[in-house]
Amino acid sequence: MPTPDLNDRSLVRIVPRKLRDSLAERGLRSTIRRLWRAASSALRERRLGIRTSGSITASELEFDAASFGYQPVPYASFDAAMRHVSIRPDEDVFIDYGCGMGRAVCLAATYPFRRVIGVERSDSLSQIARDNIRRASSKLRCDDVTIATEDARKYEVPTDATHIFLFNPFDEPVLMTVLARIRDSLHASPRKLSIIYALPKCRRDPLVDVPWLTLQHKLETIDSDWQRLAVYESP
Ligand SMILES: C[S@@+](CC[C@H](N)C(=O)[O-])C[C@H]1O[C@@H](n2cnc3c(N)ncnc32)[C@H](O)[C@@H]1O
Repeated sequence: MPTPDLNDRSLVRIVPRKLRDSLAERGLRSTIRRLWRAASSALRERRLGIRTSGSITASELEFDAASFGYQPVPYASFDAAMRHVSIRPDEDVFIDYGCGMGRAVCLAATYPFRRVIGVERSDSLSQIARDNIRRASSKLRCDDVTIATEDARKYEVPTDATHIFLFNPFDEPVLMTVLARIRDSLHASPRKLSIIYALPKCRRDPLVDVPWLTLQHKLETIDSDWQRLAVYESP
């Protein structure tokens, strides 16, 4: 698709600057894709009555370098991942490690999970997540949705947790500590467990080396420029 002539004077007057910059940087096709993504995301937020957009850096949250900042999971990515997990209604328990403003928590609660839990280190993000859950409550199928304000490294894994969601919340050392806690909870209470992990395309996926996890699905063509998604299961 040819990119419009960005030096055309009439275009300069009517096309907002941000849009012109995006056209110059990414071209027409990618700009249209981004606009479509932004519009459909706004529509989903509106339908659920929540506000989860935006991004906050780790230094703004006063985190150490091993904990990443806030960025919500793209709606299409969450939808795609959920097509690859099975849910036993009123039995399964979903945990989002690093739940931020609660987008994935609210979306998970539209499925028939018995419980949905968000774990978040930042007080202010936890509070926003709780507000979002309250606003979305009439649209949720799960009525036990809670947020634990805690560092994931210290969070005691409930022995009935069956679905773990990780949208690039922290670096490998923290991830490994969290996984060790999850493995301990599986030893204490053996059960089938799924882990949905989204990570930047440029990074190595450390979960491939975890002996007690088996890669079930790899989703490369989801609606985001930088991320890929993998679904793992414990045997
Ligand atoms: C990329 S955001 C993901 C947000 C959310 N899961 C979603 O999909 O919309 C990562 C989140 O992890 C949180 N986080 C980072 N390190 C953490 C830690 N050690 N313990 C708990 N939360 C953490 C950040 O505050 C941020 O909200």
